[in-house]
Amino acid sequence: MTRGMFIAFEGGEGAGKSTQARLLAEALRTRGLEVVVTREPGGTPGAEAIRALLLGTAGEGWHARAEALLFAAARSDHVERLIVPALERGAWVVCDRFVDSSRAYQGGGLGLSDAEVRELHRIGSGGLLPDLTLLVEVSPDVAAARLDLRDAGNADRIGGRDAAFHAKVAAAFARFAEEEPARFARIDGDGPAAEVHAGVMSALGGLLP
Ligand code: TMP
Repeated sequence: MTRGMFIAFEGGEGAGKSTQARLLAEALRTRGLEVVVTREPGGTPGAEAIRALLLGTAGEGWHARAEALLFAAARSDHVERLIVPALERGAWVVCDRFVDSSRAYQGGGLGLSDAEVRELHRIGSGGLLPDLTLLVEVSPDVAAARLDLRDAGNADRIGGRDAAFHAKVAAAFARFAEEEPARFARIDGDGPAAEVHAGVMSALGGLLP
């Protein structure tokens, strides 16, 4: 049995990642592949419980290290109980956010070092990385308009941080893509969903069966 491919979507708030994950899964299924669509934080009952802690009011006042440890714990459960078994049985895994979100938000945004975030990932998840990471980038105006539609002013605890925080997150993502061009593809997310999806499919190019 050939191992499945692990594809992650990354980007800031309102980039359209969830829509793109769904469209990609549909396209892969029409090619006869088994596809597991999942998200972080979350994806297993244990990790979804940690998500509720992280994004709800219980998380108020936690410092960056506590936050990073919880994301790493959620990811550990998700990797061990859902992602790795799926890949091993040959399924493709399409994940809405993965470790690069911790590097960008808890690292770039909150100031932990990249080495610290990677070390937590090594301990929690054996350092597993996606085969391809699709970084969906949108201009701040497009992101703000989409978030207004989605959240109607009720952003979660992390999504609701100020513009300076989100600018640091976006800059960190851009830096990661420059540093690892073989693992990242940068996708222009400003256009309509079908156009962005076409960009995703062309980025997948050689990986498609
Ligand atoms: P979502 O809104 O894309 O579902 O993601 C939930 C929030 O959690 C979003 O604001 C990004 C944030 N996040 C981190 O800060 N670190 C992480 O490692 C992950 C996976 C998400």
